[in-house]
Amino acid sequence: MRGRFSEDGSTANFGGLNISPAEFRSMDRFMFCACGTALHACMVTEHLIERFARVPVECDYASEFRYRNMPLFSNTLFFVMSQSGETIDTLAAMREAKRKGYKVLAVNNVVGSTIAREADGGIYQHVGPEIGVASTKAFTSQLIIGAMLALYIARMRDMSFSDGVQFVQALKGAPDHVRAVLKQADHIKGIAKRYAKYRDMLFLGRLSLFPIALEGALKLKEISYIHAEGYPAAEMKHGPIALICEDCPALFFVSSGEMFHKVVNSMQEIKARKGKVIAIATESCELPEGLADELITIPECHEAVLPIVATIPVQLLSYYIAVELERDVDKPRNLAKSVTVE
Ligand code: G6P
Repeated sequence: MRGRFSEDGSTANFGGLNISPAEFRSMDRFMFCACGTALHACMVTEHLIERFARVPVECDYASEFRYRNMPLFSNTLFFVMSQSGETIDTLAAMREAKRKGYKVLAVNNVVGSTIAREADGGIYQHVGPEIGVASTKAFTSQLIIGAMLALYIARMRDMSFSDGVQFVQALKGAPDHVRAVLKQADHIKGIAKRYAKYRDMLFLGRLSLFPIALEGALKLKEISYIHAEGYPAAEMKHGPIALICEDCPALFFVSSGEMFHKVVNSMQEIKARKGKVIAIATESCELPEGLADELITIPECHEAVLPIVATIPVQLLSYYIAVELERDVDKPRNLAKSVTVE
C-alpha cells in the first residue's frame, strides 16, 4: 500500500496503469482472468468492485477463457493476476484479449516477468520472492490490490470523499487486524492437531468470504493432501451435505450483518448431521451456544479488509495440519510454483 494513496487520503494511486483516468472511467465492464489462488483473489476483487464501484465484473479461469471465445463488450478493460507472471494459461488468455484489441493490465509480483512485459500496464505487488509453492503472501497482497482497485474505480464514480477516506483508513488498519489474528497462532495450532486426522473437509462462506472458502480448501489440499472443497454456504444443501457425517468437518466463515443468520442456519444443518463445525467468526457474532466445536475469533473490520483478515486463520490452519502430518509444506508433491506448460 505504501506510496499508493492520494495526498488527500481519499483514493488509491497506481503509477503504472498507463491508461488515463478518463479512459479508465469510460469502461463499462472489467474482465479478470487468472489461475489457482490468483483467481480467488480476482473473485474477491469482483465482489468489491461491484459492491463499491457498481461496475459489472466477470472472472474466469484463464485456461477456460483462452478457448471459449467469449464475446466481450467494446468498453471492457481486461485484467490478469499472476504472482509469477509466467503462468502459461494466464499469458495465453492475455494474448487472446490483446489480439481482440483489448487493453490488458496485469497484477503481478515478479518485475520483468513475461506477463508484466506484454501487458499494457499494471500494478506490481512488490511482496518479495515467494518461496513456498502454495501462494500465501502473494494472495493477501492481491487482495489488498483488489481492494485498492475497487476504491480507485469507486472514487471515479459515486463514492464520496468521506467514504473514500474511511476506506483508506480501513486499509491502513489491515496490518493491525492481521497481527491480532497472528497472535492466535497457538490456538489454531491446537485445532490443527485435533483435525489433522480427517480425510475430508468442507469450507463454507458467503459473498466476499466465499472465495476465501475456496482458497482455504485449496490451501489445505495443496499442502496437507486432505481432500477439501469450498462452497458458498447455502449451496451446501444441493449436494455436499450428503458428505456430512462425524468424519467430515465443516469450516465456516461467519461475519456479522445480513448473512449472519443464514450462515448460522447452514451451521445448524451440519450439526444436525453430527458434523464437527469450525467457525471463523468476527468478534461481534453471537453464535448459539454449542454450535461451533472450535471458534477462531477475528476482528470486526471494513468489508474490503475482511477477506484478508479471514484468510490468515485458514492459511495457519493448513500450515499446522501439514506440519502435524509431516508434509513438505514448502514443496508439496506434484505441484509447481509456476506452471509454464499447458
Ligand atoms: C500454480 C501454483 C499456485 C498458483 C498458480 C497461479 O498452480 O502452485 O500456487 O496460485 O500456479 O500462479 P501465478 O504465478 O499465475 O499466480
